Amino acid sequence: MRRPVFHLTPPAGWMNDPNGLVWHAGRWHAFYQHNPGGPGWADMHWGHASSLDLCHWDHHPVALAPDPALGMVFSGSAAQAEGRLAALFTHCVLQQHQVQSLAWSDDGGLTWRPEPGNPVLVEPDLPDFRDPKIAWHPPTGAWVMAVAAGQSIRLYRSPDLRQWTFASAFADGSDLPGAWECPDLFALPAPDGSRWWVMLVSVDQGGPSGGSGTWYRLGQFDGFTFDPLGPARWLSHGPDHYAGVTFSDAPGGRRVLLAWLRNWREARDLPHAGWRGAMTAPAELSLVPGEGGLRLRQTPVAELQALRGVGGAGDRFEPGGPFELHLTVGGPFRVEIGVVGGAVTLTGDGQTLRLDRSSAVPARHAATMAVPVEAPCAAGDLVVLVDHGSVEVFDAGGAHLAASLWRDLAGLVTVQGATARWWALG
Ligand code: FRU
Repeated sequence: MRRPVFHLTPPAGWMNDPNGLVWHAGRWHAFYQHNPGGPGWADMHWGHASSLDLCHWDHHPVALAPDPALGMVFSGSAAQAEGRLAALFTHCVLQQHQVQSLAWSDDGGLTWRPEPGNPVLVEPDLPDFRDPKIAWHPPTGAWVMAVAAGQSIRLYRSPDLRQWTFASAFADGSDLPGAWECPDLFALPAPDGSRWWVMLVSVDQGGPSGGSGTWYRLGQFDGFTFDPLGPARWLSHGPDHYAGVTFSDAPGGRRVLLAWLRNWREARDLPHAGWRGAMTAPAELSLVPGEGGLRLRQTPVAELQALRGVGGAGDRFEPGGPFELHLTVGGPFRVEIGVVGGAVTLTGDGQTLRLDRSSAVPARHAATMAVPVEAPCAAGDLVVLVDHGSVEVFDAGGAHLAASLWRDLAGLVTVQGATARWWALG
């Protein structure tokens, strides 16, 4: 398996959730769940990479390591505070003992000092209590933390990130099984100028393609309570889009999301080359009108356009590696993307988008991974990003598919029923 070109992967060892996504002093910092000691989930640390453009990543030394008393470093978030960087994350001794801790960095995230009073938030009666996301809430002048607890998201408030007071719990999402994980809560403007709050929740079972999935709800938030308005919807219908969270403190009001491009169902057992795991392509979030209300839309970040090399228009081309494809779709269409020994197909009929990657998954996982994945999708233009190891599809109405591939790209791409424009990306 070749390494992806524009997707973040660990230099070696294991990667899962994005953590501590923050823009600071001109760089995008991505920390992530990491086992530097091997390609399996174990002994969780925070890995660290940073980037000027969200597409080329510099790798840095491991940022946070397990604490002898408090345990492994699970997921969490980061933000600029007190003129430096703060990280708020879960320490986990066993799955049964999870507490929230704080650390500070004065050198742009390279080295971290734990807050002397750690842990800063303990709830002895909550066994699953993890993945805090912090944000400053200007109207009420407080830090707010959203943190998963069983099948609920609890909200806490703090003047200084050290002392936390419970504000409310949100448990009205869906009746899916499995633990809620990795929440995010942020505001976005709608096209009509109204302002909405978005709650993201990852669920480790019952996703749209089976296994892991992330849903969102739109609502209002007063600094204390999240009031949902409208149903829970999937953030992506693809099988490999989990633990998605957004960067804090992004310039220009941007909301940029990274998710883990894997599904827990198979992730631990997929082939590897000393490193395992990848993030999705960075996506800008916005709200768009849809049937029955607003939708959260993902769009590849504009920075990706700088990676465009040779390209062209036409229904047969050989990109020779990663590429971007724009499709203008009027009716049923079919795209075949060549991989070693076969092709991945993307089809649409104006109502459903379907991705069949059965010739690009490991045989021992065919029963789950070879099943075509579908997203409801009105006819319209599509953007397709293909890197070594993944296909991601974005539509203007908010439909999204992300799927990992386990064969190298090879040969032709063919398009029927749509007008195509493509660029090699590198
Ligand atoms: C989500 C998750 C988090 C946890 C982390 C452990 O994928 O299970 O809830 O903090 O991974 O690696």
